[in-house]
Amino acid sequence: MSSFASRLLPGRNRGPDALAMLGAMPVPVVLLDAENRFRFANHAAEQFLGISASGLAQIRLQDIVPPDNPLFLLIAQVRQTEATISDHDLTLESPRLHKVGITVQGSPLPEEANSVLLVMQDASAARALDRQLAFRGAARSVTGMAAILAHEVKNPLSGIRGAAQLLEASVGADDRELAELIRDEADRIRALVDRMEAFGEKPIVRAPVNIHRVLEHVRKLAQTGFAEGIRFQEQYDPSLPPVWGNRDQLVQVILNLIKNAAEAAMHAANSRPEITLLTGFQHGMRIAVPGTTQRLELPLFVTVRDNGPGIPDDIRPHLFEPFVTSKAAGSGLGLALVAKIVGDHGGLIEVDSKPGRTDFRLHLPVVTEKDADK
Ligand SMILES: Nc1ncnc2c1ncn2[C@@H]1O[C@H](COP(=O)(O)OP(=O)(O)OP(=O)(O)O)[C@@H](O)[C@H]1O
Ligand SMILES: [Mg+2]
Repeated sequence: MSSFASRLLPGRNRGPDALAMLGAMPVPVVLLDAENRFRFANHAAEQFLGISASGLAQIRLQDIVPPDNPLFLLIAQVRQTEATISDHDLTLESPRLHKVGITVQGSPLPEEANSVLLVMQDASAARALDRQLAFRGAARSVTGMAAILAHEVKNPLSGIRGAAQLLEASVGADDRELAELIRDEADRIRALVDRMEAFGEKPIVRAPVNIHRVLEHVRKLAQTGFAEGIRFQEQYDPSLPPVWGNRDQLVQVILNLIKNAAEAAMHAANSRPEITLLTGFQHGMRIAVPGTTQRLELPLFVTVRDNGPGIPDDIRPHLFEPFVTSKAAGSGLGLALVAKIVGDHGGLIEVDSKPGRTDFRLHLPVVTEKDADK
């Protein structure tokens, strides 16, 4: 590796340290020159690509990745914009290579014109995506059940509810309590069926949505109800463009995230429950559009942060699956619904959690000129 390593950083005093650091990094890193020749590959990259550094020094990227791979688009865009760009869910497929669900970050190297540093990983965002994709399968299996429930249960349920109401009016005080119980329980089933129904495969109707209005709406709702007494902080980027999405569904997403945050913050170690809502714009966040070679830009992010104890270890691997809950009264549908809606929007959700700080971060598409014309 040292032969082309020495070409990377000719300066005697800073070269070796920086290279040793890159070499020791557990994340695959390669440096490409203007012709996509490998100028550097760390140990993790050798393993990842299955080719030794001396082997890589002889070849170019197009020798191991087909030229129509979106990776080349990413590299071209890094050169053109001179900014860091990341691609999620890439497939690197060739006779020599088989990698799916890869996140690649490409960065320009200011001193080296047209060189591109690639960092490859299946870390947080890609893992979150996996979970989300795995969840889609689970969601589909409940979709059929949801449709049947909605059809077959709702009608008789309203009959039961109506009959209980009639009884309430005509019986004595003791029996009235029982009739009320029937009505309340019927309402509870109805609410559950409504939530299940949200898993149905309906295409979403999109319009420009002001995400700050959604956040403020839900915050007010929360503060007069389940999040009473919890301190809220807002760190909004006021210059954000509108999200290209469905307002009511985005309300549902934020509501479920804030409800979870409130329930977690109640157990804050310092007994000062706090929720922070953050928004911002982040260039170069993209995701594959399933079944196409298109990439969807997801430049807007929304983070719901709480200071609760963090996500329990046993829940983590199944976080977005339906019916997974650590709460006595929880149904475990909140995050499953969140993942479903975010997926329908073509967005992405990432989770970062430790005791005292849990972040749920949404990445969403914004209105483009093309959408505005519709
Ligand atoms: N902010 C959070 N902090 C810690 N744990 C969380 C957080 N959000 C979710 N979880 C964990 O993930 C589980 C699943 O959350 P989800 O919203 O899907 O269901 P639930 O909150 O248990 O029930 P429901 O939302 O249906 O009332 C929770 O039971 C909890 O263990
Ligand atoms: Mg919940």
